[in-house]
Amino acid sequence: MREHRVSLDSLIQPLFVVERSADAGPISSMPGIERFTVEGIVDECRQLAQLGIHSVLLFGIPARKDAIASSNYDPDGIIQRATRAIKVAVPEITIIADLCNCEYTDHGHCGIIDEHGNVDNDATVALLVKTALTYAQAGVDAIGPSAMMDGQVEALRSALDAHKYNRVAIMAYSAKYASAFYGPFREAAEATPQFGDRSSYQMDPANAREALREIALDIEEGADIVMIKPGLPYLDIVRAARDNFDVPIAVYNVSGEYSMLKAAIANGWLEGDRAVDEMLVSFVRAGADSIITYFAKEYAQRHEV
Ligand code: PBG
Repeated sequence: MREHRVSLDSLIQPLFVVERSADAGPISSMPGIERFTVEGIVDECRQLAQLGIHSVLLFGIPARKDAIASSNYDPDGIIQRATRAIKVAVPEITIIADLCNCEYTDHGHCGIIDEHGNVDNDATVALLVKTALTYAQAGVDAIGPSAMMDGQVEALRSALDAHKYNRVAIMAYSAKYASAFYGPFREAAEATPQFGDRSSYQMDPANAREALREIALDIEEGADIVMIKPGLPYLDIVRAARDNFDVPIAVYNVSGEYSMLKAAIANGWLEGDRAVDEMLVSFVRAGADSIITYFAKEYAQRHEV
């Protein structure tokens, strides 16, 4: 009589891949999660596929950063190389590439900074398009634009189609809030803004109706999947999205949600497996079709098929 279940098919494991092997290894604020070299990530994908997890969300950490994120659109950049290696070794893995600039800029913002110190929306969109084409060429199955620039989904869709990458899907970070829960990720991805914050391009946590507008826009612009992020503090948004739209909905159970559970579990304050299972099923109950979660691998290990 159970109404909802978490299926392994619906889980997406985020993975960090580094260009310099010296940068690989555990992330202290996210116990159990590490940064992989290209070799390491191929091995990790092999293990995930064996466990029944078939989708990954890739984040790259380049060796070199500059003001215009040039290492991001390098055809031989870290995402492009990791994608090619995974596609050769573990072709059954669906690769979604997160598309942003914050890991690649020396100032840590998601876009190009203009002469007034603001993020230049349109220049950033052009840059994202340029990078996305190199990701598509490397063989990603989907692109997840997370920079929250206006018009980015439409620009990406038309450029991908024009270059015959019409099979590359877009998973839009439609309702992405300016959240404190990204803290551990910023250590993992070295993507902390060096000045200011992201509130000019990410959403105000106090706004709910605005999320529905953002989602409607992304669907109109051609998004195949829309995402709500973070997850736990925004289950109401997931439910509202489910009730209002017919498209596939993903939720991102972000780094801070992972770390707070891990910390409480390590202290013996929460019963680990039960807490994780309860949290994951809450996303399904709220209406999400897929869940991006750092717990994907360990969940699969506990529920082996
Ligand atoms: C980059 C990006 C962030 C996350 C995913 N893509 C960080 C941010 O916006 O500051 C956060 C993911 C997480 O916390 O797990 N734009």
